[in-house]
Amino acid sequence: MERTLQWRFMPLLALIASFLCVFFSPRSYQATLESGCSLLPHDHYWISSKRIVTPDGLISGAVEVRGGIISSVVKEEDWGRRRRSRVKVIDYGEAVLMPGLIDVHAHLDDPGKSEWEGFPTGTRAAAAGGVTTLIDMPLNSVPSTVSPETLKLKIEAAKKRIHVDVGFWGGLVPDNALNSTALEALLDAGVLGLKSFMCPSGINDFPMTNISHIEKGVSVLAKYRRPLLVHAEIQQESLIEEDGSDSDPRSYLTYLKTRPSSWEEAAIRDLLTVTENTRIGGSAEGGHVHIVHLSDADSSLALLKEAKGRGDSLSFETCPHYLAFASEEIPEGDTRFKCAPPIRDAANREKLWEALLEGDIDMLSSDHSPTKPELKLLSDGNFLKAWGGISSLQFVLPVTWSYGRRHGVTFEQLASWWSEKPSKLARLPYKGAISVGRHADIVVWEPEVEFDLDNDHPVHFKHPSISAYMGRRLSGKVLSTFVRGNLVYGEGKHASDACGALIFAK
Ligand SMILES: *[C@@H]1O[C@H](CO)[C@@H](O)[C@H](O)[C@H]1NC(C)=O
Ligand SMILES: *[C@@H]1O[C@H](CO)[C@@H](O)[C@H](O)[C@H]1NC(C)=O
Ligand SMILES: [Zn+2]
Repeated sequence: MERTLQWRFMPLLALIASFLCVFFSPRSYQATLESGCSLLPHDHYWISSKRIVTPDGLISGAVEVRGGIISSVVKEEDWGRRRRSRVKVIDYGEAVLMPGLIDVHAHLDDPGKSEWEGFPTGTRAAAAGGVTTLIDMPLNSVPSTVSPETLKLKIEAAKKRIHVDVGFWGGLVPDNALNSTALEALLDAGVLGLKSFMCPSGINDFPMTNISHIEKGVSVLAKYRRPLLVHAEIQQESLIEEDGSDSDPRSYLTYLKTRPSSWEEAAIRDLLTVTENTRIGGSAEGGHVHIVHLSDADSSLALLKEAKGRGDSLSFETCPHYLAFASEEIPEGDTRFKCAPPIRDAANREKLWEALLEGDIDMLSSDHSPTKPELKLLSDGNFLKAWGGISSLQFVLPVTWSYGRRHGVTFEQLASWWSEKPSKLARLPYKGAISVGRHADIVVWEPEVEFDLDNDHPVHFKHPSISAYMGRRLSGKVLSTFVRGNLVYGEGKHASDACGALIFAK
């Protein structure tokens, strides 16, 4: 009932709002449209389609965009009457309109490692893939983002060089974890939350944290109501010799044995001693722990599910590569597939899909983690020496759809995993849905169109050759991407200027 009423009054409210805006601030309206930021020379327009994914379900109708904000969403029956206005209309026909994707886990490696990726190439790839917001990880750039000073370097590197909106996670490391002054300074500087590792990160200035560091970090974060993101693996005994002397390092199964699922399980058992404090009335109420890139769909998943059921403030993501690939299928010496935690077997992959479809896994993220080809594509195909990380930023929507449609995935589920839940994790209530008042962050795509990721396919991240997805046939072609109303990508072209906004927590 409430919803119907709201719906009825929405066009009226939007109309009043638009009169007020035009009446009071015509100049500021014009000013939001800088030339070069958008391929579209309009600040006020409608986009229509037969398939629009809204929080109230899939509708046929139109979305009004004004000053970068969604100012109305109307169904077909009301749309007929409204379309007579002289405002510009872009009709996308049968193409799907979805909220832009929010990638809460990407490594853009800038500053300091821009030969690996960089803000310009990374965010151009994001725009071409329908990702309208991404949150950059605090490591793999030089230096790591662990203090207000190092965050400032990130901001300088990103300014005027980003094509989509970008926020930052800070690092929780032994150096700052037990010092609340240091942590508060980093949080006051605007990072959206913190990230820590329970095993060596592979990056010298980003050491691993123990459970005391994590407990202290969560208690400080609780006051700010921001999340701690955790790489949950604890080093256990390896099932092979460290140096691989008893196994074939070109075999993926060798690498898999070096990081069995018991690593994830051990880390999660430890973490749950901290997350129980986040329950209502607990000593860290207001705190939240988010497990990044869950790979183990057995014991680890069961433990997390139980803890959530007990009221722990806990969420977890998995990544498209765990849903698309299986260890049995990885060719000998093909180090493009190396990542941590590792891709496990096909049975595990099926269980991850099940958990996702049942809502046990909250969301998806890319964990786009590139490097330069020399460190990834080793001539001897040695899995133990190659860089661990999968490049995927531009492909996550078609990958999730191509592999997900076999499991009956719906557009609403895609929007939940890629937009709605991530917007909640990063505390961005003004993003993540096609609904009135939110940022006009929208992806328009054609689920039925297939394409080959071959050498002719335009890939915008820096090193396409290291991506495990190259050579695959996918369905789901991104037509247009809008960021706060700017058409930043359309018909294979990017807007000339990089007008993405930096996002800070307040
Ligand atoms: C805690 O961090 C602050 C700010 O970085 C620093 O000035 C102070 O020396 C640190 N305290 C300790 C005990 O390390
Ligand atoms: C974690 O490391 C700190 C030193 O940074 C140490 O004081 C503390 O005892 C350690 N905690 C555990 C549980 O090992
Ligand atoms: Zn990562």
